[in-house]
Amino acid sequence: MLLELTDVTVSYGQTPVLFGVNMAIEQGDIACLLGRNGVGKTTLLRSVIGLNKVMSGNIVFDADNITKVPTFKRARYGISYIPQGREIIPYLSVLDNLKLGMSAGQKKYRKIPDEIFEFFPMLKQHLTRQGGLLSGGQQQQLAIARGLMSNPKIMLLDEPTEGIQPSIVQEIEETLKRINREKGITLIVVEQKVDFARQLAQKFFIMEKGAVVANGATADLSDDLVHQYLAI
Ligand SMILES: Nc1ncnc2c1ncn2[C@@H]1O[C@H](COP(=O)(O)OP(=O)(O)OP(=O)(O)O)[C@@H](O)[C@H]1O
Ligand SMILES: [Mg+2]
Repeated sequence: MLLELTDVTVSYGQTPVLFGVNMAIEQGDIACLLGRNGVGKTTLLRSVIGLNKVMSGNIVFDADNITKVPTFKRARYGISYIPQGREIIPYLSVLDNLKLGMSAGQKKYRKIPDEIFEFFPMLKQHLTRQGGLLSGGQQQQLAIARGLMSNPKIMLLDEPTEGIQPSIVQEIEETLKRINREKGITLIVVEQKVDFARQLAQKFFIMEKGAVVANGATADLSDDLVHQYLAI
């Protein structure tokens, strides 16, 4: 297993939010994390990168117990987090936003590697533009590119298609598949759109009320499960 969570619990103050999450991700997987609003998907990703403190349970990454390892070290272990809402720095150029991602990882590039522009040709045309002037879809692509700059083993993507027009969603799906296939990077993608999740991922995990309640191959993600846990 590349990443294994065992009985992970997380609270905000006195309020428990994750009640013993179990999840196992294999090297090379594309896994989607599904669940209705507020079930704890973002909290789960944040605890894997170390932004939320784990009260009990364990997180093991690449055979190391990282449960208490600080966030900057987890990035060096090869974990990259692309937050919900993208968090591009609006007044910095595209180039400077990319450089921010560079400092996180183990290997330091001296310039932006060509492969970044092979995955995201659009960025090359906009290098000097302020990040905040890009469209939502372009900002999401920039956020993913920034996440790649740390040369990660795994990328945690929180709703990469939220609020993005369908043609760009398609492009992002293709690019994520290429990143997985060509670089062997494992992906965990939080997603609301079941169809997108089915097309992108081979595995699924469904959360409800702070726990993983179902998982398996996306080929076996039945309409019953969708109805029970995902329908609004
Ligand atoms: N900083 C915080 N302080 C207190 N409670 C929080 C905080 N962040 C999230 N919560 C609560 O924790 C629960 C889980 O939130 P989380 O953001 O992880 O859910 P989510 O599944 O990502 O939801 P969404 O689909 O809306 O993004 C929710 O009840 C939310 O209100
Ligand atoms: Mg969320």
